[in-house]
Amino acid sequence: MELTPEERRMLSGEDGPATKKAMEILLALGAIYGADRLLPVTSVQISGVSFDNLGEAGLEFLTEMAEGGGRVRVLTTLNPAGMDVENWQALGIDPDFARNQQRVIQAYARMGAATTCSCTPYLFGNLPRFGEHIAWAESSAVCYANAVLGARTNREGGPSALAAALTGRTPRYGLHLDENRRPGLTVRVEADLRGTRDFGALGVAVGRAVEARPGKPIPYLRGVAAAGVDELKSFCASLATYGGLAMFHMEGVTPESGLHAPPAETLTLTRRDLDEAIRSLDSAQGEADFVSLGCPHLSLDEVRRLAERLAGRRVRKTFWITTSRPVKRLADEMGYTAVIEAAGAVFAVDTCCVVAPIRGRFKVLVTDSAKACYYAAAKNGFATRFLPFEEVIEEALK
Ligand code: F3S
Repeated sequence: MELTPEERRMLSGEDGPATKKAMEILLALGAIYGADRLLPVTSVQISGVSFDNLGEAGLEFLTEMAEGGGRVRVLTTLNPAGMDVENWQALGIDPDFARNQQRVIQAYARMGAATTCSCTPYLFGNLPRFGEHIAWAESSAVCYANAVLGARTNREGGPSALAAALTGRTPRYGLHLDENRRPGLTVRVEADLRGTRDFGALGVAVGRAVEARPGKPIPYLRGVAAAGVDELKSFCASLATYGGLAMFHMEGVTPESGLHAPPAETLTLTRRDLDEAIRSLDSAQGEADFVSLGCPHLSLDEVRRLAERLAGRRVRKTFWITTSRPVKRLADEMGYTAVIEAAGAVFAVDTCCVVAPIRGRFKVLVTDSAKACYYAAAKNGFATRFLPFEEVIEEALK
């Protein structure tokens, strides 16, 4: 791979062992994927933050990188951790887990990462522009960055995202290149879509269809009349989960859709397909005992809608509200937090119902997130109800 003088210096170890290690990780990755050079990145989002996923070995690696003088060179934010960093006791988190989780976050902080633990960094300032090369790791955010923002990133793993942060570089391959961003399948949507659950269901249907096709073509969706930020983040999370996709085009909605003609091969999805996707995730028998909103992390507008609906009422089930620390601070200032907490719901900031260590604590999760349904079953063994945003809230009140 062709390296600039600065990159050669980083590789030589002159900038310290952590930077050298980071360069080695990037070069190994570049060699696997046939990259000819490295690209400068403007922003990084790191996964591998929850101690539940990292374990001791991961913590050791991070500590070594921090002690080896690793220092981020571009804006770097973190994915959700395994707990609310300020309020973990209220979520019933084990003190040993909390200690290890704090050590993980401290290691990232020592390296200069902003310790906002969230999967929606684009809602609070880690917001790349069209065409910028970035290195992000969280699958829903990667899909949002590529498709909705028009930035360019592969789906990084924890170590490669950290390596990009410490060097400000990423190998030039995959979705950084024009030719890998072209659509390969037209998806005609013949249904009215409303709210996050419908968009999540669309992600399930498109994801499953693409997953079953050779080469997993990038879908080009037609027929979606409008999609807001909250709906798109729901769709991205779902598409990444059920189709393993990091990119899509939506005619009239996403910025690169206008650069391409719709591919000839076409799949049509109707309301019936979406209802089938919903049914497949809304299958729990028995009483729900856990309700959660905020996968991906809630926007301020979603917190506002939640507060409006909960005002003067009282929830009867464990109800987690998961969002980022910056959005929570705004919610505090707006008075939304006070209303939500007075109703008995609990903020689980910096974390979510998937990455927190809650296996075995609940039986049935109610959510508006198709992604949360997938991991609730696969990771935590919960049955799921998959409802629209407002109905999720009503379920918590029953
Ligand atoms: Fe975010 Fe956790 Fe969902 S990381 S996308 S809230 S699974």
